[in-house]
Amino acid sequence: MRIFLTGSAGFIGMHLARRLLGSGHQVFGYDGLTSYYDVRLKRERLAQLEPLPGFFAGTGLLEDQPTLAAAYREAAPEIVIHLAAQAGVRNPLSMQRTYLDANLTGTFNLLELCREAPPRHLLFASSSSVYGQTDGSPSRETDKTDRPISLYAATKKSGEAMTYSYAHLFGLPVTALRFFTVYGPWGRPDMALFKFVDAIENDRPITLFGEGRMQRDFTYIDDNIDAVAALVDLVPKRNEGAAPWRVLNIAGGQPVPLMRFISAIEAATGKRALIDHQPMQPGDVGSTSADATALQALTGRIPTIPVEEGITRFVAWYREWTKTRGS
Ligand SMILES: NC(=O)c1ccc[n+]([C@@H]2O[C@H](COP(=O)([O-])OP(=O)(O)OC[C@H]3O[C@@H](n4cnc5c(N)ncnc54)[C@H](O)[C@@H]3O)[C@@H](O)[C@H]2O)c1
Repeated sequence: MRIFLTGSAGFIGMHLARRLLGSGHQVFGYDGLTSYYDVRLKRERLAQLEPLPGFFAGTGLLEDQPTLAAAYREAAPEIVIHLAAQAGVRNPLSMQRTYLDANLTGTFNLLELCREAPPRHLLFASSSSVYGQTDGSPSRETDKTDRPISLYAATKKSGEAMTYSYAHLFGLPVTALRFFTVYGPWGRPDMALFKFVDAIENDRPITLFGEGRMQRDFTYIDDNIDAVAALVDLVPKRNEGAAPWRVLNIAGGQPVPLMRFISAIEAATGKRALIDHQPMQPGDVGSTSADATALQALTGRIPTIPVEEGITRFVAWYREWTKTRGS
């Protein structure tokens, strides 16, 4: 199938593109290569994809409507997977507008193109952050999500709402994917695993917020893309007048305390972590934990790779990657 994939130079996008290409699909990537983190890493990810048959790289911002429209029309997609976004909850306050430009205007631009030339299915990357501050019990898709504690979360919630309205008004089939802390090789340098391993390998202290009491429902990248790839063909139907729209937690429902995560990094690197304790940051939630029942019911499987194994694979990749790029 012809798949239009935004965020193709990103962490999840690159892995997903590789998986889809391996299954014989054509992937039309689109990415603005934004400078939120090291653009060199994004180019390196793209270099993994470019030699693969069936991959077409498009460059542009989501909010640059003419460029996006030209790429979309050329792709004439049957499936659209919308991962590109301003990610992360700790962006400096001076950069708040990028959430609106990428996540609101950008998503609107893409939805308008989907209205003009509808794909069979739009899959949209949302986030566990829409659940806001929870009591630590597993979050279900039916829980209230009207108290976002970061602008990032507010724009992800808005993205879900916008896609719902297009499903309702125009019959566009949509699956909104609530990703939970995805980690693995080629991961994001702004996320905990990359930062911690980088610091420990270079004998620098790691900064731990909230006295390490946080827990996260970590999802190894292979598990994440297994779920997304399985969902591509599971198109929601209009049912008794209800919009063809669904939202799903993409996680295994096995939250891991941060201290176990750090112990696993120490074991994988063979080094002790020097810890600098800092108070919780304003946009951070204390705990994320998914109820994965709906994902299990729909796809027959949920993420299972334990953090110890995922971290070992990340460290192996990190060491190889730093060696080849000489930094
Ligand atoms: N990684 C996680 O743990 C996680 C958790 C929850 C949700 N998500 C969501 O999943 C998606 C993919 O996340 P990721 O970890 O791969 O992030 P990423 O930052 O590595 O990838 C996003 C890509 O989008 C591109 N992009 C950003 N703004 C753009 C714009 N305005 N126009 C065009 N391209 C733009 C970036 O250049 C980047 O390559 C995002 O929507 C993110 O919010 C990720």
